[in-house]
Amino acid sequence: MARIIVVIPGDGVGVEVTAEAVRVLKKAAYVAGIEIKFKNCLAGGAAIDEYGVPLPENTLAAVKEADAVLLGAVGGPKWDNVAPDIRPEKAILGLRKALNLYANLRPVRVSGSLSAYSPLKAELVADTDILIVRELNGGIYYGARCEKQIDENGVESAWDTENYSVPEVERIMHVAFKAAQLRKNRVISVDKANVLATSRLWRRTAEHVAAEYSDVELNHMYVDNCAMQLVMGPKKFDVLVTGNLFGDILSDEAAVLAGSIGMLPSASIGDGPGLYEPIHGSAPDIAGKGMANPIGTILSAAMLLRYSLNEEKAANAIEQAVEAVLAEGYRTHDLYRPEFKLVSTKEMGELIEAKI
Ligand code: IPM
Ligand code: MG
Repeated sequence: MARIIVVIPGDGVGVEVTAEAVRVLKKAAYVAGIEIKFKNCLAGGAAIDEYGVPLPENTLAAVKEADAVLLGAVGGPKWDNVAPDIRPEKAILGLRKALNLYANLRPVRVSGSLSAYSPLKAELVADTDILIVRELNGGIYYGARCEKQIDENGVESAWDTENYSVPEVERIMHVAFKAAQLRKNRVISVDKANVLATSRLWRRTAEHVAAEYSDVELNHMYVDNCAMQLVMGPKKFDVLVTGNLFGDILSDEAAVLAGSIGMLPSASIGDGPGLYEPIHGSAPDIAGKGMANPIGTILSAAMLLRYSLNEEKAANAIEQAVEAVLAEGYRTHDLYRPEFKLVSTKEMGELIEAKI
């Protein structure tokens, strides 16, 4: 039976990079004998333009029926001034909620050939291999908030709230510990337990869950210290598990270790269809110019094959093809230096396709 993948190109470079990921996915599926049906849907700014909302009903209905969703990026200056409740980002947050995507996996691998691109010294980052497991369905992102409140003196304020329940923390911890068992058996849980009540619950719950995984070592780190450790010695991390907001911030920081944020994929997993997207945004400044690096999205497609379709071989084929093309010296604009061969977004997609 054909598997159904909903493709949401979104805005800006999202359109170009998803086109290349679909090209590569089609080839990998063809070679592995997997039948896939692709369905394109709108979300983000493109959906605001067409329907007046960032996450239209027909897109929601389609993703719920799908086996997996591949997304480019949403947002751009054109929609910066729309009302807060219809901002393009609401599409992503809405998809995460609607599909109950509570675990966001962001692998950060610094391959030998790319360590020279890192803003850190090559020897400090070479062979870094971190899996960030970010809680994606709770915390301050989804807590009660108030956009505007005026007190008796006429002073305006706004507020957000952070809330985590024990079951929410338990389920993300299980994802982290299980992932660690397939890696180096080490989990670092990141919180702000010296200040926040939610972090103290987070830490207690991490300890409880750890008791079920005697083969995995658990350590705790405060988020401020973690931000520092990521640039001082990224190699000491294996699995890093944290809440929604800290995970958002730390994963951007960790992403740049690999030289370009354009290289990094992500998977958002729940109990139904998963959502796969590059870490980078819509990059309006380079949109439509063939300059974007499609590798983050192509590697997201590999994660899609692995986690949602259970097609490990096809996933590996894509990852190896990416490595092979980089090893031959092809680079998109973000990673270009004179000793390399500069290629466009589309050319990079075609080169990777040809290697499968
Ligand atoms: C990410 C993004 C999103 C987030 C935005 C677009 C809402 O930064 O996926 O990290 O904050 O989660
Ligand atoms: Mg982010």
